Amino acid sequence: MDRRSTPDGLPTATLRETIAIISQVMAPNVAKGVILRRPNVVGMVERFGLDAKGIRQLQALSKKYGRGPLMLKVPGKKMAVVLDPADANHVLEHTPEPFATDEALKRSALGHFEPDMALVSHGEARQTRRQLNERVLQSGCPHHLFADAFTQVVEEEADALVARTNTRFDELDWPTFQRAWERIVRRVVLGDSARDDRTVTRELVRLRKAANWGFMHPKRKRLQQRFEQHLAFYYQQAEPHSLMAMLFHHSTEETDSDQAPLQQVPQWLFAFDPAGMAAFRALALLCVHPEFAARALDDVNDTPPPDMDCLKASVLEALRLWPTTPLILRQSTQPTQWTPGEMPAHTSVLIHTPYFHRDERYLHAAHRFTPEMWLRPDGERRWPLVPFSGGPGICPGRHIVLLVTSRLLAALLRRARWELHPPGKLSSETPMPGLLSPFHLRFRLERFSSDDATTA
Ligand code: HEM
Repeated sequence: MDRRSTPDGLPTATLRETIAIISQVMAPNVAKGVILRRPNVVGMVERFGLDAKGIRQLQALSKKYGRGPLMLKVPGKKMAVVLDPADANHVLEHTPEPFATDEALKRSALGHFEPDMALVSHGEARQTRRQLNERVLQSGCPHHLFADAFTQVVEEEADALVARTNTRFDELDWPTFQRAWERIVRRVVLGDSARDDRTVTRELVRLRKAANWGFMHPKRKRLQQRFEQHLAFYYQQAEPHSLMAMLFHHSTEETDSDQAPLQQVPQWLFAFDPAGMAAFRALALLCVHPEFAARALDDVNDTPPPDMDCLKASVLEALRLWPTTPLILRQSTQPTQWTPGEMPAHTSVLIHTPYFHRDERYLHAAHRFTPEMWLRPDGERRWPLVPFSGGPGICPGRHIVLLVTSRLLAALLRRARWELHPPGKLSSETPMPGLLSPFHLRFRLERFSSDDATTA
């Protein structure tokens, strides 16, 4: 596309339109909790359909202003919203120069517990830290070196979760699922001995609560120190088949002081939260699409495992319909040229993923469960479907997320018959809601007999 300079600046939204974007697009997402979700607010946003209103607001602006990007009239801050799919791809592909990941709002939030993490670093330090993340998480590889060990963890925890249903409940709700999920996450990231270390999770939750308020909340330095000491203990242990072991290996191999290895770990722990939400939502989607669930389960034993399968596609589809990173932020490091004009340096650039993921003007099944689209080769998807971001800043943990969540779904489906409760919460006959709160989902389950379970 032609991005040559024109003498004029970019179009700017009126004050009224800016207020509408802030109140309908940004405020609901900030209120839901950017770093730690607030379940009550998520429930309210779901009930009042606020996410769908935000999408309609941006669609109206793209109709009026064309391709954008559109500058907003925010006092004391340069901010633009991306409205065109090619522009969204352009921004993501040109990360971190001239579109840096360490945007100011992100820095103020993540600064509470991981100020030296790759995402909020720039220049050489970012490059070194990004590289370390890529090595440990094996960013380019759908089958992590520890994939079998992670699968084993998932199987054991799924067993424990479903076994409890015989004695204490025949329903699965979010708090019960979350406890099991957190055990999986601690074992995968920190090692098996961290399975029941709820203290480390609680410390991070308290730091994330402060981070939700960004610069408006004072830093909790003593808590952060305690949390870091806790992580340092697991780093020294470097338990086999954990991400900590991999981190220990790669960070001691190269003693680059810029690496800040322990500062990368909180991101892994906290970013597993949305993965749990996506898995829970995918389970709901599979309940109301039983034929696809059966096909997915059939595929699961294919050897060698394909890079993409139906369960991974279901998780991706849950993330398309209800992205867990709805706002991707970049900050321009220099003036940039666009077809309609110039964007000044130091502009915060906002990519609202639901606007692209749910655009029925371009995606004919925008509001339907269409996992098939993820089974097609990547090259056929130029539209910005970017639950994990894209370009050089793409989430390096995406393959681990898809591996662990898809293995968990397989383990649950093999152990029981699942039904959404109440069943009318979601339907294959009607468009998918703008938001599906994972915190308010419940499932009825009928456990398969022990004979069936042992063959699983
Ligand atoms: C459903 C779960 C997840 C989703 C949707 C997700 C999505 C994303 C997105 C959109 C970004 C880019 C953010 C930005 O540019 O501002 C990102 C960055 C990142 N994610 Fe994830 N993520 C998930 C889970 C994970 C997990 C489990 C890990 C680690 C085990 C991880 C590691 C990272 C790291 C290290 C970065 C920073 C990359 C950089 O600095 O360039 N993510 N993730």
